[in-house]
Amino acid sequence: MHRSHTCGELRLSNAGTKVTLSGWVARNRKMGGLVFVDLRDRYGITQLSFNEAVNADLMAAAEKLGREFVVKATGMVRERESKNAAMPTGDIEIMVEQLEVLNPAKTPPFTIEDDTDGGDELRMEYRYLDLRRNPVRRNLELRHRTARAIRNYLSDADFMEVETPVLIKSTPEGARDFVVPSRLNPGSWYALPQSPQTFKQLLMVSGFDKYFQIVKCFRDEDLRADRQPEFTQVDCEMSFVEREDILQTFEGLTRHLFREVLNTELPELPRMTYADAMRLYGSDKPDVRFGMEFCELTEIAKGKGFPVFDGAEAIIAISAPGAASFTRKQLDELTDFVKRPQIGAKGLIWCRVEADGSLRSSVDKFYGQEDLAGWQQACGANPGDLMLLLAGGLNETRKQMNELRLEMGSRLGLRNPFDFKPLWVVDFPLLEFDADSGRWHAMHHPFTSPLPEDVHLMDSDPGAVRANAYDLVINGVEIGGGSIRIHDRALQQRMFSLLGFSAEEAQHRFGFLLNAFEYGAPPHGGIALGFDRLCSLFGGSDSIRDFIAFPKNNAGRDVMIDAPSTLDDTQLKELGILKG
Ligand code: AMO
Repeated sequence: MHRSHTCGELRLSNAGTKVTLSGWVARNRKMGGLVFVDLRDRYGITQLSFNEAVNADLMAAAEKLGREFVVKATGMVRERESKNAAMPTGDIEIMVEQLEVLNPAKTPPFTIEDDTDGGDELRMEYRYLDLRRNPVRRNLELRHRTARAIRNYLSDADFMEVETPVLIKSTPEGARDFVVPSRLNPGSWYALPQSPQTFKQLLMVSGFDKYFQIVKCFRDEDLRADRQPEFTQVDCEMSFVEREDILQTFEGLTRHLFREVLNTELPELPRMTYADAMRLYGSDKPDVRFGMEFCELTEIAKGKGFPVFDGAEAIIAISAPGAASFTRKQLDELTDFVKRPQIGAKGLIWCRVEADGSLRSSVDKFYGQEDLAGWQQACGANPGDLMLLLAGGLNETRKQMNELRLEMGSRLGLRNPFDFKPLWVVDFPLLEFDADSGRWHAMHHPFTSPLPEDVHLMDSDPGAVRANAYDLVINGVEIGGGSIRIHDRALQQRMFSLLGFSAEEAQHRFGFLLNAFEYGAPPHGGIALGFDRLCSLFGGSDSIRDFIAFPKNNAGRDVMIDAPSTLDDTQLKELGILKG
């Protein structure tokens, strides 16, 4: 027998019991004629105690145990003399009678402690050791609990989990595909799914009615803190539904998860149109934990001789509460922030509303107190607030102001990760025009249905057509997205042609779906939640890597197994990639 108990479960009530524990040596310290070893496993740490006066050989053996040795110890549980209230097992220790080294270990390259001395790269290279650390393991426990709560909730609601294939044909979700060569079909390639989108729609044609899958998706795109090349979706689809049914169902799931995983009650989720989100926050994933909504000053700030404003399509302001006290240095930092190439503003105009109500701006030369009072009124700024203005083209200024607003929110401490503010963003545009290719692109994906009342605009004014699509946004993160689908072959074909696919091309790429639509496709719709993002949100982190057991680094590499890597010529020839 390797163990009678785990290292996390013994309490004072077990005193006097003989137990066997197995685990890893976390710490080993000698104090005079005593040796104490902290034995660790997934469940906790228990102190092993050795006494020279009782058994000198055993104590000498304990003293030699290195960090991370795997050992088995048998002995009596007893009350500790000096208790450790910080540990669940801190009232007891094991007076060891038998000790066996199951496996010695090399000294680990970093300390396996909550606050480790290991840098990012090193910990990634030895991820299996990093996973021994409490904070990392806890993240994966949270992930497991979340997955279980999802499966329970959806299963109870009659959703059926169905696995869909991984070796498929390109699915258009807007990213590049990862591809796999086919040995049996030289010159042909599979694509890995960017999502199971087309398959879940086919399952609706099959009459499965309610489908879900916790599923790996693959997208060859640039990495960010909230993006991995392979990530997990909670992918769902329902038949005979309208938007409202989907929003209700997944609002229910979201509320259930917050309750189960975080013990938090969510209020009803507000809804915001895409147009409002862009107008008020300059983003389709607004962080509504704090106000600072945009205020358009275009009308009132133009025509006073300030060239930057006079030539601008849009002048947008935010009012940062209590920030009138920002020093010159802080204001310069903000100016540098918006001028960074990633943001690209030409400059930043500010106006302080002093405590006595007087107004001081960086453009006092052009604007008198009365003008500035007009700004203040439009923005609803109070004494002590700081107004920040950006000007330029409408879309770019919104984008820049979104970045500045988020930065101000962070600087003012208004973005507490455990203050959750979810909402639905609805009525996205169906299409966006890509100037580079001179073509319309599907904003969500080509299977998304237009709002019925906008269908008549599809030919005359495609850019004005709204989609029957929705995103679940929490704290400025797009947690999920979905839509009501097109279930009519003619409309789907019209959509493909708007996107610039010829009839042959559409048939070649999506013939299977178009054909299926001729065999009784029910009205259907769905959503996919980014599971890694959801977990990192629950864990209060911006980085999804911390919630994935074996993630890729910023260059898309797994430095532990050293992938991607080269193949030898034999393998390349067999795959038909190398001739000869
Ligand atoms: P979409 O492309 O919006 O929709 O993806 C759904 C959700 O998946 C998450 N996500 C990612 N998470 C981590 N790394 C990535 N690279 C990544 N890309 C996306 C996001 C996103 O909201 N088939 C549709 C869903 C549908 O219409 O039902 C789809 O895939 O949280």
